[in-house]
Amino acid sequence: MAFQRVCAADDVQVNTPQRFELEGEQIVVVRDSEGAIYAIGDKCSHGDISLSEGFVEGCELECWAHGSKFSLKTGWPQNLPAYEPVPVYEVKLEDGDIHIDPTPTLKEQN
Ligand code: FES
Repeated sequence: MAFQRVCAADDVQVNTPQRFELEGEQIVVVRDSEGAIYAIGDKCSHGDISLSEGFVEGCELECWAHGSKFSLKTGWPQNLPAYEPVPVYEVKLEDGDIHIDPTPTLKEQN
């Protein structure tokens, strides 16, 4: 699938997860304090919770329900109770805009 423009990079506040829907995929986008932008699946792999309602800590996004922290780089939870990854999506920046390929990818465990 092709990359699609999502929004301007400046529209995503640092460490404030933002949810988008692309091609039926629920995707949460995070911009970290160094300006790197990540896109992973929005639905926690442990329950029906939107990770966009969670908290960013370093390079992880914590689910508010039971505290699993998902790596923004790999989608893998770093602690229980979640034990399965969420998908990750390729991101590229072009002319100050965020583009995402909505093809979900499951990464190897980190
Ligand atoms: S629903 Fe996310 S950790 Fe339980």
